[in-house]
Amino acid sequence: SHRINIAIDGPAGAGKSTVARLVANALQYIYVDTGAMYRAVTAIALERGLSSEQEAEIGLLARELAIELLPGDDGQRVLAGGSDITAKLRTHEVNRNVSAVSAIEAVRRRMADLQRRMADSKGVVMDGRDIGTHVLPDAELKVFLTASPRERALRRFKELGDNPGITLDQLEIDIAERDRKDQEREFAPLLQAPDARYLDSTGLSVQEVADRISEWGRAAT
Ligand code: C5P
Repeated sequence: SHRINIAIDGPAGAGKSTVARLVANALQYIYVDTGAMYRAVTAIALERGLSSEQEAEIGLLARELAIELLPGDDGQRVLAGGSDITAKLRTHEVNRNVSAVSAIEAVRRRMADLQRRMADSKGVVMDGRDIGTHVLPDAELKVFLTASPRERALRRFKELGDNPGITLDQLEIDIAERDRKDQEREFAPLLQAPDARYLDSTGLSVQEVADRISEWGRAAT
């Protein structure tokens, strides 16, 4: 059977990354977390004292920054300019700025370029916002994965552990705000591709969702 590419898009907290990793394991494919790439650009920009309005500077930064994704025991590691910045990608600061940084066209062009190269030889499960619509429009399987806003906030809240540093209500507001910005941006917004399968994971376990997508993947090879 030949290898295909699988695109999983959807809003924040829909469980895309966990599901995509499970699907990649089941099919022995490579998992690519594109959100981590946008987070990497955002984290480095903040570290250099740039604000998200400094679009030209951040565009340049994205173009010169070497971003590498490596498989790790507890998920994917991200190297930026050679150093491991995985631990810096999921802070509230990055959460609050990543949609603005991701709306910069030069940033998106550069990330899409890198992502297409990663998918060149097929056998990739890529999760993000614009994979089925923009990055890999020819992906053999496209899934639009979502869940109710409350459930998505709750999942993220649980990931934050004993010291969440934020209330569930505030998290739900932050997520809704990020979704709105991702949907309303000009260039490659969050959107369901017409040929994507819609999957609402509310009330389903990650394993159930992953099994369903893996089945679709096997059927498409
Ligand atoms: O998937 P994750 O929540 O880590 O993505 C973080 C942010 O990165 C999203 O809210 C979105 O602004 C941006 N993103 C994007 N396009 C992608 C993946 C992520 O704009 N393909």
